[in-house]
Amino acid sequence: MPDTKRKLFIKSYGCQMNVYDSARMSDMLAPSGYVETDQPDDADLIILNTCHIREKAAEKVYSELGRIRKIKAARAGDGHDVKIAVAGCVAQAEGEEIIRRAPMVDMVFGPQTYHKLPDMLARAEETGRSVVETEFPVEDKFDHLVQPSSVKTRSRGVAAFLTVQEGCDKFCSFCVVPYTRGAEFSRPVERVAAEARRLADAGVKEITLLGQNVNAYHGEGPDGASWGLAQLLYHLEEIDGLERLRFTTSHPKDMDEALIRAHRDCAKLMPYLHLPVQSGSDSILKAMNRKHSAGFYLDIIERIRQARPDIALSSDFIVGFPGETDADFEDTLKIVRDVNYAQAYSFKYSPRPGTPGADLEAQVPEEVKSERLQRLQALLGEQQTAFNASCAGQKFDLLLEKPGRYPGQLVGRSPYLQPVHVTNTNAAIGDIVPVHIDAIGANSLSAHIV
Ligand code: 5AD
Ligand code: SF4
Repeated sequence: MPDTKRKLFIKSYGCQMNVYDSARMSDMLAPSGYVETDQPDDADLIILNTCHIREKAAEKVYSELGRIRKIKAARAGDGHDVKIAVAGCVAQAEGEEIIRRAPMVDMVFGPQTYHKLPDMLARAEETGRSVVETEFPVEDKFDHLVQPSSVKTRSRGVAAFLTVQEGCDKFCSFCVVPYTRGAEFSRPVERVAAEARRLADAGVKEITLLGQNVNAYHGEGPDGASWGLAQLLYHLEEIDGLERLRFTTSHPKDMDEALIRAHRDCAKLMPYLHLPVQSGSDSILKAMNRKHSAGFYLDIIERIRQARPDIALSSDFIVGFPGETDADFEDTLKIVRDVNYAQAYSFKYSPRPGTPGADLEAQVPEEVKSERLQRLQALLGEQQTAFNASCAGQKFDLLLEKPGRYPGQLVGRSPYLQPVHVTNTNAAIGDIVPVHIDAIGANSLSAHIV
């Protein structure tokens, strides 16, 4: 063990899986004496955990590296040897190219290699040369990752992420995930349960199960059979201390009957589902290789609402996929009106090098994409406002997560993930309290404990 602590700065871009991965990287480095800092200026190791899903992601990383190079130079003047690493999906996609364009980078490694981080760091330090690791290894990285330590977990709060599935075999024609995260893989049930138990022991009350395609989960069960996500949820529900379960992100094709029923029968599963549809047009869905129609999606929504009438729905949308006509876009607005979302994300199509969509000829002009995105976001915004307004006067159970901005104020999350403020309370962070929603603000709700 080194006698002085070294400082680690990690910047996460993109999805929640990157947030989880960053935490695991920090755990991997803790035994070598690294402690996290939120100041890049005094770090000994800087890791950019990158995302490649949309828009000039790689360019953003290069400009961030420009800023970091100055930190490295300044620290070198003080006798510090700052190591710089690029991890995540841009690292996977760009590989050696990153070293060519930014030679001061010491390590480039993809999402499947984080368990080798101490080894890669030692190699970079010993040889003084850059290390690039973008292979998809045969071993299961989760077997080698250091488990979250309870002390650190506590500092990460009462709601935690837990990756149960990674990679994707769906190959939607716009998406880089199958190339950067690799083939679909599910962690065995008992490994997931052991990690969930450790989190619960450390005070975590709510776990969000993560996977690029989480409802395709098919991990090995304790009985040797393949278990689906519904079975996993019922198993985790047994863990004492754990009060709330969520999962994200799902694909409509994998929304099987058992998982739909779990929304009725799994008491700890929150009544909120993020189920991306991407487009409401059957011909665009086909071109996107989504493997389902708008009608199929609407049918699932209806069945979920039957199983769990108070469920709130969320989705992702892409506007301006190649070939999208005005009529196709109207179909997207129509499906939004048909479903009525509580919340949703929407994006302009961004051609990703190496994906089939990028090679299609009928690319939609930027102005058309912008105009469609604006109209879609206006509609989704109206729905979100209406959903929040409908919560006024309702009673919810709130998980208190952190102090608010003012003395005596705490912020919690509703079952629908809305931030809710409460004041004048003796309740503590980590408590789940019944509240009455009093007022609806632009970004949060306020309530009193009943
Ligand atoms: N362009 C725009 N949006 C994309 N997404 C994925 N790939 C692209 C792309 N090339 C969106 C999808 C997905 C979310 C995570 O990001 O809506 O569900
Ligand atoms: Fe990407 Fe489609 Fe897989 Fe989701 S299901 S990760 S959008 S390829």
